[in-house]
Amino acid sequence: MTSGQGGANPGFARGRRLRSTPAMRRWTAQTRLSPADLVLPVFVKEGIAEPVPISSMPGVVQHTPESLRKAAAEAAEAGISGLMLFGIPADKDAVGSQADAADGVVNAALQQLRADLGDELVLMADLCLCEYTDHGHCGVVTPAGVVDNDPTLDRYAAVAIAQAQAGAHVIAPSGMMDGQVAAIRAGLDSAAYTETPILAYAAKYASGFYGPFREAAEGAPQFGDRSTYQMDPPNTDEALREVAQDLAEGADAVMVKPAGPYLDIIARVADAVDVPVAAYQVSGEYAMVEAAAANGWVDRERAVLETLTSIRRAGAGSVLTYWAVEAARWLRC
Ligand code: PBG
Repeated sequence: MTSGQGGANPGFARGRRLRSTPAMRRWTAQTRLSPADLVLPVFVKEGIAEPVPISSMPGVVQHTPESLRKAAAEAAEAGISGLMLFGIPADKDAVGSQADAADGVVNAALQQLRADLGDELVLMADLCLCEYTDHGHCGVVTPAGVVDNDPTLDRYAAVAIAQAQAGAHVIAPSGMMDGQVAAIRAGLDSAAYTETPILAYAAKYASGFYGPFREAAEGAPQFGDRSTYQMDPPNTDEALREVAQDLAEGADAVMVKPAGPYLDIIARVADAVDVPVAAYQVSGEYAMVEAAAANGWVDRERAVLETLTSIRRAGAGSVLTYWAVEAARWLRC
């Protein structure tokens, strides 16, 4: 029998009984959000003297190496779990050489942050070539302009080794090449990084919500788009295949991306696997709420926390979000 039936009105349940006060609602909350659930994506750019604001993402900047150190210390102080690092090099070329240069912008930043913070935050390195290639695609391209899967895998393995060497705690491949997790695992193992885990962007959709990120990371494709390697939004089963494949190749944790428009995918993936599931609340999700809040159309804090709670409710264990530090502060007080 459903609880709450009977009494003066035996015909219906009084769900309102458990919603009557903030304390009652806190007691009965089924999903909780805490700073440890959150990971902050950050951008570090080579050759700038001051942080550069990203116009489509109010409050988010391209960091200098120095400003990144400060932001990382604040993130640790706020109690979030980690950072996801993206680098924007001064020089780009066809194969993204700066991605695995030991003194490349992201690898230098990893080294510095590891020296500053030790193991206080989980330092995650986004592994992709789009910020590093002059054509803006996530892999190397053939003369005909096709993103070439297998030669790209060799590049990814080299980048993974460089990132692990620089101090990344977690390698997070986001390029959606087939076989990327196996190639990276083999590369890491061959360089004795057997203990470095892989967080696979397993179900990553070709999404319109990445728009502002392309300004932030300066990695917009110069021709074509990413729909031949990222997933097609109508598909669900394919996400489960991608996740299963990445786990079979050795992924330690998986990610769904974007998050808000793909809550059903998060729920299905979380049901299907027994490894940590992360979800990436992407730049367009951030920009939408910021724009609406700036116009006074939504209550900013309330809307932000609702999006994050919903992603957790769908089944994600952690959320990558540009609001990570601010939300962590709200959750603490
Ligand atoms: C690059 C990458 C993208 C994002 C994260 N890694 C962009 C893309 O695939 O085009 C998007 C993140 C965001 O929009 O916040 N592989």
